[in-house]
Amino acid sequence: MSATQRHRIDNPADFGRVAVVMGGSSTERSVSLDSGRNVLAALQARGVDAHAVDGIPALLDALRVGRFARVFNILHGQHGGGEDGVLQGALEASNVPYTGSGVLGSALSMDKTRSKRVWQSQGLPTPAFMPLPRGADVQAAAQAIGFPLIVKPACEGSSVGVSRVFDASQLDQAVQLATQYPGDLLMETLIEGAELTVSILGRDVLPSIHIVPKAQFYDFNAKYVAEDTQYLCPGLEGEAEASLRALALQAFDALGCNGWGRVDVMRDRQGRNWLLEVNTAPGMTSHSLVPKAAAAAGIDYQELCWRVLETSFGPHAAGSSESRIPNPKSRDSNGGAQ
Ligand SMILES: Nc1ncnc2c1ncn2[C@@H]1O[C@H](COP(=O)(O)OP(=O)(O)O)[C@@H](O)[C@H]1O
Ligand SMILES: [Mg+2]
Repeated sequence: MSATQRHRIDNPADFGRVAVVMGGSSTERSVSLDSGRNVLAALQARGVDAHAVDGIPALLDALRVGRFARVFNILHGQHGGGEDGVLQGALEASNVPYTGSGVLGSALSMDKTRSKRVWQSQGLPTPAFMPLPRGADVQAAAQAIGFPLIVKPACEGSSVGVSRVFDASQLDQAVQLATQYPGDLLMETLIEGAELTVSILGRDVLPSIHIVPKAQFYDFNAKYVAEDTQYLCPGLEGEAEASLRALALQAFDALGCNGWGRVDVMRDRQGRNWLLEVNTAPGMTSHSLVPKAAAAAGIDYQELCWRVLETSFGPHAAGSSESRIPNPKSRDSNGGAQ
């Protein structure tokens, strides 16, 4: 199979016994449990011999006694969250195939600062930024970036610890909030405009979604609780949509990702796209974005879960000799002509 082809499975028995690993110990545990329960029900409804497993230690115990043939990873986040390369390394070492990105793509995508460095090196557009290690001079960093800016933890998700900062008086509080989460912080230019996200399934890029939160930005509440966030899909039209999708796939490839994922983008008022981050095990709750994009492409939730599970036959599947080389093509700018 080439890396560009879908590995089609028709018979659920061909997946063998599947562990749907969810929950875990990251700050996104509850979101992951919600995602995982939905995935589990969908796979079971399609006849897959799927079982819930909570967290990495329980999964490794089960694998040691040979209970599962493959893993559907729907853990979110780092530190036991299963989205940061640690689980992927353990599964590689155990020769157990799994969904989604491998060690490198997972680890790199979890770190927003390093993701941005890779994109910059390939000429892909991402907001100007300053890494903020603990104890950094935040006022000096803010002077360098200029207001308005965003402060966020470099390695979290679900918008936890993210603040918009419009002047110097709001800076300390933003830093204090982000500091409550482990790891370094990141300060970047706040892009005012439209928030878009692009889902990737295998080598297919699904229609973008334009997110219109009622709140000021797409915070935790707008993501998982509020019923008044609007989702427009496709988010753009014609050439603008096509070039956004192409950019998302370039960004995904640049980080060595594969299988499936979601690329978050801000589009400024001049129509320029700016890459924020890649999610390698994106949410699959009833509010989540990948299921909405899949539905717009005619792929229902059960079929989506099936196709994600098929990605476990991808480049890092046990016994596979395939490897992926990130696309070296670069763009010098995203231009104003979209
Ligand atoms: N540079 C930015 N400009 C404008 N809004 C931003 C920027 N960075 C983050 N945001 C807002 O914060 C949200 C969360 O940021 P993101 O970088 O996607 O981290 P995560 O989703 O992992 O928490 C985004 O969905 C967006 O609403
Ligand atoms: Mg995001």
